[in-house]
Amino acid sequence: MNYFCSTIITPQVEMMHKLQVAERSEIYIGEVAELLPRLLPERRTIVITDANIDRRYHSLLQQYEYIMIGTGETVKTMHTVETIYRKFIEAGIDRSCFILGIGGGIVTDIAGFVASTYMRGIDFGFVSTTLLGQVDAGIGGKNGVNVDRYKNMVGTFSQPKFVICDVGLLRTLPEREFRAGLAEVIKAGIIADKRLFEMLERTTFDALRDDTELLAKTVLAAVKVKADIVNRDEKETGERRKLNLGHTFAHAIEKCSSAMNHGEAVAVGTIIISRIAVKLGVLTEKDAARIVALFEKFGFETISPVTTRRMTNAIAKDKKTSGEFIHIVLPTGIGSCEVKRMRLSEIAAIVE
Ligand code: GLY
Repeated sequence: MNYFCSTIITPQVEMMHKLQVAERSEIYIGEVAELLPRLLPERRTIVITDANIDRRYHSLLQQYEYIMIGTGETVKTMHTVETIYRKFIEAGIDRSCFILGIGGGIVTDIAGFVASTYMRGIDFGFVSTTLLGQVDAGIGGKNGVNVDRYKNMVGTFSQPKFVICDVGLLRTLPEREFRAGLAEVIKAGIIADKRLFEMLERTTFDALRDDTELLAKTVLAAVKVKADIVNRDEKETGERRKLNLGHTFAHAIEKCSSAMNHGEAVAVGTIIISRIAVKLGVLTEKDAARIVALFEKFGFETISPVTTRRMTNAIAKDKKTSGEFIHIVLPTGIGSCEVKRMRLSEIAAIVE
């Protein structure tokens, strides 16, 4: 194993798991929010957050200088980033300061991007407050913003010093948002952790929401999958692409329709790619059926709100599609997958 993982019991914090990503980023999982003061360096700290967090944790935020951004994918732009740069300049923020992103994936993507570009980089950390942020967006050092409808077109690879994944913070998440995070947990199981997938098959949506210890174990397992892959391929030259299972179709769905959030689109994208994998003969019908059944059990839609033609057109127009070819992640079993470079026309023909 490349990552370091330990379970630590301290008098202050009931139980926590600690993982290390890319040798310099520490991930704390459990009921660990109380660790924050100990993890923050003794430096001026500026928090970047949003109105939802302000509503829920106003008294916590009051202890810091903080900047609020709007909510929703539409705020993930260079405009928001520039607004923050200007506030930093006005407030005299420099490299001796520390930036703390508190929020879901949108906040941490923006906070990480601002911190890693302002004055060529300031140290930063995250408190991830959504399931999706804890198991995916906040982990692994990808930060960035969208350009028009092109997702994450501008960004950096820069690791947060720490990420706090306090599962207690997830209790107040709206059901739909919690479910969205589960899509990335299921994805982690499909690509690299059969035991995680089987555990999800045995449990229920309500059990995961209500049982803090079960949820902490689930988050830990999903983060381990990501940490392990990022530790081998931090800059996505190869294996890290596996984390994009289902994302080619998911991004196309999100580009063409606002009916689904990211996690919901990942669920549908993963189902589509599983069916393609069956047609290509790399996944059995039985395993594909298990994947669909698991998403169904957790209450996901399994049908795309966007036609096949529109999805493949959107993929073709995606700036990340190099020429006619795309890298597609194919599940090859429960707990295994492969990255294949395929012609888009070949994929489109199968989907049609
Ligand atoms: N969300 C995919 C990655 O971090 O690589």
